[in-house]
Amino acid sequence: MALRFEVLGRFNRARAAQLTLPHFACQTPLFMPVGTQGTIKGLTTDQLEEIGCQIILGNTYHLALRPTSELIDELGGLHKFMNWPRALLTDSGGFQMVSLLHLADITEKGVTFQNRIGADIIMALDDVVRTTITGPRIEEAMYRTLRWVDRCIAAHKRPHEQNLFGIVQGGLDPVLRYAIGGLAGGEDKDSFWRVVAQCTAALPEDKPRYVMGVGYPLDIVVCSALGADMYDCVYPTRTARFGTALVPEGVLKLKHNAMVNDTRPIDPTCACMVCKNYTRAYIHCLVTKDAMGSQLLSYHNLYYMLQFPKGDVPEWVCNAMDVAGIDISSCCSS
Ligand code: GUN
Ligand code: ZN
Repeated sequence: MALRFEVLGRFNRARAAQLTLPHFACQTPLFMPVGTQGTIKGLTTDQLEEIGCQIILGNTYHLALRPTSELIDELGGLHKFMNWPRALLTDSGGFQMVSLLHLADITEKGVTFQNRIGADIIMALDDVVRTTITGPRIEEAMYRTLRWVDRCIAAHKRPHEQNLFGIVQGGLDPVLRYAIGGLAGGEDKDSFWRVVAQCTAALPEDKPRYVMGVGYPLDIVVCSALGADMYDCVYPTRTARFGTALVPEGVLKLKHNAMVNDTRPIDPTCACMVCKNYTRAYIHCLVTKDAMGSQLLSYHNLYYMLQFPKGDVPEWVCNAMDVAGIDISSCCSS
């Protein structure tokens, strides 16, 4: 069996579980750093293990172009190629198709690419439309995604070693959406959380639920409260490259002039290697001048994202929900 999902504890709709994959037994809720091209920019795989990363996301579309799925296969699969012993997930390219490709007949090819790359979890190809779009295009995308998942299942050659995950499309229309993709595309939080609540209620209890492309710490806490288990987002590494650190109070801009002689660590409460060893002043000096600046910030930001699902819900989350007037229970009742 390529996947085992054991719920270890529950609190209302939230759950903590062990997700056992061919290469790693993961604890959920979990955050997956995005390594589009088989690398998390600026971090070694040893460092990723050190900060508790359990599973990395790769993009089939990018890997198929470079170094190509044939070469990855020939060199023994992506785990070996990038020297990553733990779990891998490859996204199908449905998301990239929106901007980069026409709707070509690539369904079976997509699965073949992902079989060659060899990730623990492979995503079915989906037709992704912006959540801000309305009208028949949403319905078309939902039905196309359903047809494609059938073709993905038929083309999947390694069901005992790799798990094919289906993706639920359907925009923000509660009638169309059955089970969680296509979100985080500029819709308001209330619509987003309502869709997640509806999906988690409809999706099987005994399978992991993955909210794609999410997200910010607050979204992860809310979605986990609504019964989701897995997340991925470029935000912590992308924002690091722009000089921003994630901290319990929100964000800290290391480019800011106030940092020039600040001898505190990024976050005095953080136990990561960067916060133990470097000052804000030093990172301020490096940021935008030397690759080490964004490497140190990426390290801290990923440490933050990987550690916080393990802790208590931080006070700032409760405060933020209060301030925003967000009542999660209203999402649950619909
Ligand atoms: N990444 C973020 N959202 C999506 C989505 O809807 N589909 C796919 N394939 N990847 C995503
Ligand atoms: Zn830190």
